[in-house]
Amino acid sequence: MINIPKGLKDVLPNESYKWEKVMKVVYDLAKLYNIKEIRTPIFEHTELFLRGVGDSTDIVNKEMYTFLDKGGRSITLRPEGTAGVVRSFIENSLFNEALPLKMFYVLPNFRYEKPQAGRYRQHTQFGVEVYGADTPESDAETIMIGYEFYKKFGIKPQVHINNLGCSICKNNYVEALKTYFEPKLSQMCEDCKRRYKTNPLRLLDCKEENCKLHVENAPKMADYLCEDCKTRFVKLQEILTALNIDYIINPILVRGLDYYSNTVFEFYDADKTKGLNALGGGGRYNNLVEELGGKATPVVGFGIGIERLLLYLESKNINIENENKVEVYVANITNDTIKIMEIVKNLRDNGISCEMNLSGRSLKAQFKYADKINAKFVITVGEDELTSGMFNIKDMFKGTQGSIPENKIVEYILENRN
Ligand code: HAM
Repeated sequence: MINIPKGLKDVLPNESYKWEKVMKVVYDLAKLYNIKEIRTPIFEHTELFLRGVGDSTDIVNKEMYTFLDKGGRSITLRPEGTAGVVRSFIENSLFNEALPLKMFYVLPNFRYEKPQAGRYRQHTQFGVEVYGADTPESDAETIMIGYEFYKKFGIKPQVHINNLGCSICKNNYVEALKTYFEPKLSQMCEDCKRRYKTNPLRLLDCKEENCKLHVENAPKMADYLCEDCKTRFVKLQEILTALNIDYIINPILVRGLDYYSNTVFEFYDADKTKGLNALGGGGRYNNLVEELGGKATPVVGFGIGIERLLLYLESKNINIENENKVEVYVANITNDTIKIMEIVKNLRDNGISCEMNLSGRSLKAQFKYADKINAKFVITVGEDELTSGMFNIKDMFKGTQGSIPENKIVEYILENRN
């Protein structure tokens, strides 16, 4: 037998309704917030991610699925959604659309990570990217979309927010961090030593206990924000408070990707934040479009892991209702299967979900199957029924049964389906 590769997961038929629900929530939100869908390819030129995600990140350094195609080009499976959307925005001149332009995607990403709970080598993100607005209102609206998404599943997350500053205050802060960490580096982990050189901000979110001790007394970004960045951060907080979004300021939130500046945020479990991976996260990246060759365009966005969401719901015993129900099973005790198929077709034509005996089973086995698939009604059709035109119908949920004329079946089901 050939098994699924490590770190991957099938979505099985008995759970796929959850994904359908996710898509429904996404499409409903997209309508309310005027967000248009974008679908970029599953692989891109490797260079896009090297430049777009940043070569100091774990994603680029350790986790990309990169290979040469038959033409000798270096190709990488998408490790995250943002870079591909930026590429498409530039390549398709989407800056000519009405800006701000809000886009969303629900797409798979591939990262060669150490598999563990909530961490897979293929995961799916619901992402939103808001192009062409550089205001605290657009930050708040983006956070709001993510927040509302979780609320539709009965979760009220806590949003951690931070401000990494504009390029000027960010640079001052990075210098302060370097001065602070330099004498401590010898006691810190190898990753931190590397990050000190490539992206000192990442020293703040090292998970090693020893390194965390040094982080506690590190300079705080808030002390380095310029007046504009401070004002913007305060305004964001005012909006979030007014909109009843549960948030806290997390001064060591820096995010694992290089492109962020200014507002960054992550969604966490409100009860049990410590030790738990973020449910989703994002932030502002005002320089990336220009860095990848486009006209400078401010953007803010987020990515929410769907597998992580579903795991989280399970851990909280929050059920997603399976709205897909087979309403009718048509059981046959006649060889006139063409007639049965006509009956079934008529029911389906009237919007009634229906199943029939596709495998030549006995009546007893058909009832067993109808029970297993949770069909509400079973209509039994044999020679007698075909002659008299009266069909037996059993309500499997209530245990009641009766007899109805063939031409009244649809009406009966529609009236009694709930
Ligand atoms: P990220 O924080 O790397 O951000 O990923 C976003 C979310 O994807 C995570 O919070 C988590 O829910 C999910 N996720 C990431 N890696 C895995 C994994 N290995 N297994 C399961 N779930 C995972 C980004 O990717 C940014 N592109 C988000 C963004 C969009 N920022 C601005 N726009």
